[in-house]
Amino acid sequence: MTAAVDYNALIPNNVDLAADRRLQRALEAWHPKFLAWWRECGPADYQDNEVYLRTAVSVDKHGWAQFGHVKMPDYRWGIFLAERDGAARTIGFGEHLGAPVWSEVPGEFRAPLRRLIVTQGDTEPASVEQQRHLALTAPSLVDMRNLFQVNVEEARHLWAMVYILMAYFGRDGREEAETLLERRSGDVDKPRILGAFNEKTPDWLSFFMFTFFTDRDGKYQLASLAESAFDPLARTCQFMLTEEAHHMYVGETGVSRVIQRACDVMRAQRGDDVRRHRAIDLPTIQKYINFHFSVSEDLFGAEQSTNAANYFTQGLKGRYQEARLTDDHRLHDARYRLTQWQAGRLVETEVPALSVINERLRDDYIADCQRGVDRWNKLIADAGIDFVMRLPHRAFNRRIGQFADLPVTPDGSVVDAATWAARRADWLPTADDATYVQSLMRAVTTAGEFAGWIAPPRIGINNQPLDFDYVRL
Ligand SMILES: [Fe+2]
Ligand SMILES: [Fe+2]
Repeated sequence: MTAAVDYNALIPNNVDLAADRRLQRALEAWHPKFLAWWRECGPADYQDNEVYLRTAVSVDKHGWAQFGHVKMPDYRWGIFLAERDGAARTIGFGEHLGAPVWSEVPGEFRAPLRRLIVTQGDTEPASVEQQRHLALTAPSLVDMRNLFQVNVEEARHLWAMVYILMAYFGRDGREEAETLLERRSGDVDKPRILGAFNEKTPDWLSFFMFTFFTDRDGKYQLASLAESAFDPLARTCQFMLTEEAHHMYVGETGVSRVIQRACDVMRAQRGDDVRRHRAIDLPTIQKYINFHFSVSEDLFGAEQSTNAANYFTQGLKGRYQEARLTDDHRLHDARYRLTQWQAGRLVETEVPALSVINERLRDDYIADCQRGVDRWNKLIADAGIDFVMRLPHRAFNRRIGQFADLPVTPDGSVVDAATWAARRADWLPTADDATYVQSLMRAVTTAGEFAGWIAPPRIGINNQPLDFDYVRL
C-alpha cells in the first residue's frame, strides 16, 4: 500500500477537495500518470533545477499568486474556480436566458459539454509537448523562466479541465482524463485534437508567435466558455484567463524584442541586411506572423456552424463578453456580416447571426491581434524605419472552413493556384528561413545576458532585476 497523500494540502484549491472522497480517489489514481506524462513530455531539461515560478494559491484578485524558486516536478498544480459576486448567477444567453445557472451537467447536454471540455483540455498538454525542447536554446534565463512558467500553467489548465471531467462526468470523465495524457502532439497515430497543436514549435521566434497568436485563441475560447450556463466550467475558465494573460504578454513582448533588435541593427548599419549582423529581419518576422496567424484562425472552426449555433442556443458556450453586448442574447432574428467565397470571388454578405457564432468570435480575435500588431508598428515607426507589419487577410493560408486551400494572397487578392505556389516563399517561412532562425538559437545561460538576435526586456519578472537568478543552474 502506498502512503496516503493529503490532496487538500498537495493541491491548492478552493473546491473543498477534502470533503469529496470520490473525487480524491480519482485524482489519486490520475496524479502519478500526470507526473509520468510531465517527465516524458514536459520540459526535456532543467527538471531538477530551481525556477522562479508563479503559483496560483487563491482567487483573490489582488494576491492570487505567489512567486518563489521551485523545481518544476514539485510545482503545486492547483484547482481554482473564480468566485461569483452577488446574487445567484443567471444564464446570460440562448433559450435558457434568465434561468439560474446549472451546478450539475443536464443529461441532455452531457455529450456536447464533454466534447467542449475535452477539446479545450487537449490543447493544454499539447502546447507543453510542442515546447519541450526549447529550453536548450533559450536566449536568456528570464526567457527560459517564462517558457517554464507557461508550461507549468498549461499543465495546471489540464488539471482544471480534468477536475471538471472527474467531478461532473463520472466514469466517462475519468476515462477522458486518461486519454488526455495519451494523445501526443504531432503523433500520426494518436495526434492532439486540433491542427495548430500538432505543428512544431522549433525555435524561439515560433514560440513567441505561438504565445501571441495561439494562446490568444485560447483566451477567446476560454472567454466564451466562461459564459457557459454550466457554472463550474464557467468559473474554471474565468480563472484560467488570469494566467493566460501572461502567456500572451510573453508572446507580445518577445516579438517586440525581436523587432527592436532588427530596428537597432538597421539604424546602426544604415541598411537592411539584418541577417549579416545575426538578427532576424522584418520581412522574415512578417512571414512568421502570416503563418501563425492563419494557423491560429483555423482553431475557431468553420464560419457557418450548426454545432456552434446549438452550443449558443443551449447555453453551453456564449460570445466574447456576452454581458457587454446590447442585443437580445438569443439572436433569433439578428443578422451578421460575413465574407463569403462565391463564384470565385470574396464577397461581403449578411447572414443569420446564429449561424456564424464562430466567425464572430474570430472577428473579436482578429481585432485583438491587430491591437498587438499596432504596438509593434509603433516600435518600428519610433525607430524611424519605413516598414509596416500586417495581419494577412482572413482567407489567406486557411485549412478549415470555406476558405480552405483557396489561392488568396495576404492582401486578400484571389490569384490562380500556380501564382500562389510561385509566391508562397514570399509569404510564408521557407525551409531556408527556418534554417536561418534555427542557426541563431544558442543558449545564453549567464544571468543578465541575452542572445544577439533579441533585445533585453524592459523589466524583469515580479520586479526582479534582469540579472536575477530566474533559473538556478
Ligand atoms: Fe492554457
Ligand atoms: Fe496559454
